[in-house]
Amino acid sequence: MTELIWVNGKVTKLSEATANYEDRGHQFADGVYEVVRVYKGRGGSGGGVPFTLTEHLERLMRSADGIRLDVPYRVDEIAGEVRKLIDTSGLQEGMVYMQLTRGIAPRNHLFPKKPVPTLYFFTRELPPVPAPGTAEGVKLVTVEDERWKRCWVKSIALLANVLAKNEAAEKGADEAVFSEGGTVTECSASNLFAVGRGVLVTAPVGPKVLPGITRQVLLEVAAEQGIPVIERNPTEYECRCGEELFITSTTRELSWVSHWNGVQIHDRPGEITLRLHRAFQERVRREVGAYQTAMV
Ligand code: PDD
Repeated sequence: MTELIWVNGKVTKLSEATANYEDRGHQFADGVYEVVRVYKGRGGSGGGVPFTLTEHLERLMRSADGIRLDVPYRVDEIAGEVRKLIDTSGLQEGMVYMQLTRGIAPRNHLFPKKPVPTLYFFTRELPPVPAPGTAEGVKLVTVEDERWKRCWVKSIALLANVLAKNEAAEKGADEAVFSEGGTVTECSASNLFAVGRGVLVTAPVGPKVLPGITRQVLLEVAAEQGIPVIERNPTEYECRCGEELFITSTTRELSWVSHWNGVQIHDRPGEITLRLHRAFQERVRREVGAYQTAMV
């Protein structure tokens, strides 16, 4: 598989691509991004199938709107180009990283009068997501939430997340949980779900919580499974002492949590976590299979 990149319509090898230092993405983090998971499908067109691509692109549009950036492409146009790039690169199992910035302009905090946005996306192989229940539990550490109040925008300004994740790693953990006054919002690169008395509790999307696409699919899967959900910020106590705890993201799907601030809270994935993860993977198989069938 050759990693390929599409930049405003031009395709090259990622290793040979160059960028302009005056792109506002570099100087002001003036842009938004997406990460889309690609799954190996059943035969067909040369590449794997991007999961929930339309949902990711619609979020990209909402994020762009959130930073007052007009996107010069429609969702279906970008989707077509993404699928073509996946096929040309031969990517089967992996991801597409996508970034949209306000483009190249002489450095100035003010928006350029006629911005020409830079849109790029590239393909990258990833190992398949482990089958439910086969991976080790994730270790979480709480970190004070010092991010801005528009976390629903998938901004490329990720320094607070980067610092939080590294703080967690230095304490031997895998992920940082953002905490505010005893309740938690989300993690540095994932959403969080606590399970108590058979009910899922997860923070509502908004100023401090990204509308995760995996989170959304999971809410739909939970409804299909008849598992009730309450959208409110779980307390740290609920997370630490509840029946189950898991996190979700495009690249990890669902990961069960084993440790909280250095203390083991679970020694295996919980029943509801496993049930939801199996149902989630079933949904992926259905959508990926249906897409491949439609393309034949
Ligand atoms: N991160 N919250 C934050 C802060 C995130 O950065 C992410 C994803 C999520 C989960 O969203 P989704 O289910 O749409 O992936 C929640 C991506 C994967 C990343 O930055 O690599």
